Amino acid sequence: MRLVVLGPPGAGKGTQASRLAERLNIPHVATGDIFREAAGQDTEYGRKVRGVMERGELVSDGLTNELVRERLARADAAAGFVLDGYPRNVEQAVALDDLLHDQGTKIDRVIKFMVRGDDIVERLAGRRVCPVCKTVYHTVTRPPKISEICDNDGAALVRRDDDLKETTLRRLEVYGRQTRPLYEFYGDRGLLTEMDALGSDDEVFQRLLAVIGR
Ligand code: AP5
Repeated sequence: MRLVVLGPPGAGKGTQASRLAERLNIPHVATGDIFREAAGQDTEYGRKVRGVMERGELVSDGLTNELVRERLARADAAAGFVLDGYPRNVEQAVALDDLLHDQGTKIDRVIKFMVRGDDIVERLAGRRVCPVCKTVYHTVTRPPKISEICDNDGAALVRRDDDLKETTLRRLEVYGRQTRPLYEFYGDRGLLTEMDALGSDDEVFQRLLAVIGR
């Protein structure tokens, strides 16, 4: 199954996409995770990506499309994938169509995560991430057993640099201008399903399974 999850920053896409991918035994391909890994490296490329992310802007389409093309060509993605954070604008969506066409496949479903503005602010403000194993927590809705410490490896949890207020506002603005048009793009193709992404992790996951008929 080839799935795309769309939604604003903090909608819970990463949380649910990783769980869904595990359930379906297909890879969770998150361009944000790929770029965060690159941004952690002290190379020219790493510094460039870090700068873009810290400003809340998008990495160039050329680089992003190439990276996704390479990732989806790997054997583990042959039976399907859950794409999270990509495509992020119409240019990337067209590039994705082209690359899947080259592979003789296509997207099965695009799921739009619906959340309210207040929830986005709360989810991003409370998000904490383990710098070692990358597990995502929330101070209120998904707290670690010991405050600010990762359950898996004992590392001190951190906030994402781009979760600071200024950058969050910029990310929301970029989302509104660049990513929102994708709803029409996929709606016109009959691929889009809107899903209420409010409620507990488990409630949202059950809705997600229902959307894809599982
Ligand atoms: P990316 O990492 O993709 O960020 P995003 O789309 O803004 O999404 P987030 O990761 O912020 O949120 P999410 O929806 O995954 O929420 P999460 O599950 O963590 O991209 C980061 C940057 O990389 C971009 O700004 C850009 O620079 C670059 N980039 C990435 N892709 C690109 C592309 N295609 N082209 C160009 N540049 C690209 O949940 C958030 C919090 O809420 C967590 O704390 C979680 O525990 C909590 N939570 C989750 N579900 C629930 C729930 N049901 N109830 C309560 N709390 C919940």
